[in-house]
Amino acid sequence: MPTVIVNDEALEYEVGEQLLDVARRNSSHIGFLCSGKGICQTCTCRVLEGQENLSPPNELEQILISEARLEQNYRLACQTKLQGTGSVKILSRAEEIRRLALGVVQPPPGTNPGENLGRFLNRLTGVLPSNLPETLKRLTKIQVSPNGVQHWTSDLGHVVDRMLNTDSTTALPVPSEQSKLTKQ
Ligand code: FES
Repeated sequence: MPTVIVNDEALEYEVGEQLLDVARRNSSHIGFLCSGKGICQTCTCRVLEGQENLSPPNELEQILISEARLEQNYRLACQTKLQGTGSVKILSRAEEIRRLALGVVQPPPGTNPGENLGRFLNRLTGVLPSNLPETLKRLTKIQVSPNGVQHWTSDLGHVVDRMLNTDSTTALPVPSEQSKLTKQ
């Protein structure tokens, strides 16, 4: 089976699967507050490699993600399909922020704590959902099912459990943002 690297971990997937489904199945550190309904944007991630092996940004992503962010390869994992078998590398926003925060409290050797703090604060500014009017409009249409809540709670529990039981205290490197690597 092909694999996608999510937060430095290789995960198996089937061609055509949503990136968020693969991440959730493996309890990766990624947000899924609205369970893939395209509202919360907590599933935002950055494509570090292999944009060409993903579905292109769909209409909703083009509405919700700014042009600048799209240029920096930001995507919504719940709207992105793995459509090729070539190498793909992803860093979720949740994990990116966690790593940047660790870089502030435990600066890795050779890094500047002030610069680490600046990167962390700078990244926090992008946490609120962009395009608020569209987000609120979609929020009014949300439907909650008992099965969906149960699935969500179970997946969240697995992510938290994994975070608590793995060595997540190391400040891993966070790649710099860069312009689009591959044109669609
Ligand atoms: S999970 Fe909410 S927008 Fe993707």
